[in-house]
Amino acid sequence: MQTIEKISNLRGEINLWRQQGLKIAFVPTMGNLHQGHIALIEKAKLVADKVVASIFVNPMQFGVNEDIGNYPRTMAEDQQKLVAGGCDILFTPTPQIIYPKGLDKQSYVEVPNVSEGYCGESRPGHFRGVATVVCKLFNIVQPDVACFGLKDYQQVQVIQTMVEDLSMPIEILPVETVREPSGLALSSRNNYLNEAEKKIAPALSENIQWLAQAIKTNKDFIGLAKKAARNIDETGMKTDYIHICHARTLQSASEDDKELVILAAAHCGKARLIDNLIVNLD
Ligand code: PAJ
Repeated sequence: MQTIEKISNLRGEINLWRQQGLKIAFVPTMGNLHQGHIALIEKAKLVADKVVASIFVNPMQFGVNEDIGNYPRTMAEDQQKLVAGGCDILFTPTPQIIYPKGLDKQSYVEVPNVSEGYCGESRPGHFRGVATVVCKLFNIVQPDVACFGLKDYQQVQVIQTMVEDLSMPIEILPVETVREPSGLALSSRNNYLNEAEKKIAPALSENIQWLAQAIKTNKDFIGLAKKAARNIDETGMKTDYIHICHARTLQSASEDDKELVILAAAHCGKARLIDNLIVNLD
C-alpha cells in the first residue's frame, strides 16, 4: 500500500489505473480505524479493482465546543490494518492541503432537509463540513464507487442526496454497522468509555431494538420513543434524541409510512454515541 499526502501525486497514480480501465472504490475516514472501517475496505475490495482510503481529521465538521485536538490519531496502526484489509492507496492530506485558504474563505456544500434535525441539530454545521470535505475528496479521487457505514445513517443520506443533487457520477454503497458482541456499534468514541460505561452503553442499541418491535403493533410513535428515551436515561446515559423517521427523507414518520429508520444518540460519560435501525413494517 502506498501512503500519499499530495493531491498531484495521488492523481498521478489514479490516472495510471484509469488508463488501464480499472474500477476504483473510495473509503473516506478520519482514522483511528476499527473493524467497522475495515468492513468498508473489504466491501470496496469486493466491488472494485482498486481501493483508495483517506485519513483526514476534518476541522470543518467539528463544532467550536468539540475538541478536534483530542481526536485519536493512530497512523501506524491504521496503516497496518489497511494493508491487511487490502487497501491499495492511503491518502493522508494535511488541513493546509485540503483548506489552503483557511476554513473562513472556503466554498462549502450545504445539503438541505436531510442535514437538519437529529445530529444536524445537536452539531450545527457538522453536515456542511462533512458534505464539503467528501465533495472535495470525491473530486480529488474521482472514484466509481464510495463506501459509507450505516452506523452514521444521517451522514449516508446527506452524501446520497449531495451526489444526486449535484449529479456526481459516483455510486454510494452503504455498509452494515459492525457491532461488539454486546450490540454496541463500533466507534472511535467507544475509546472514551470506562469499564462501567462500557456495561451500560449497549442499552442504546437494546432500546432501539425494543422500539423497533413496539412500533409493529402500536402507532403511538412519539409516546413509544419517549418511553425508550426514559429507559436509556435510567441506565445513567443521557438521551440526546431517539426518533422514528421516514427512512429516506428522515422526516418524522407518519402512521402510513412503511420504510422507517429509528435514529438515536445518547451521552455516555464523555462519549456521545449514535446508533440506528432500519425497520420495514411491510
Ligand atoms: P469516521 O467516523 O472515521 O468513519 C468513516 C466511515 O466508517 C464512515 O462511513 C462511518 O459510517 C464508517 N463506520 C464507522 N463505524 C462503523 C461501524 N461500526 N460499522 C460500519 N461502518 C462504520 O464518518 C466519518 O469518519 C467522516 O464524517 C467522513 C465521512 C470521513 C468525512 O470526514
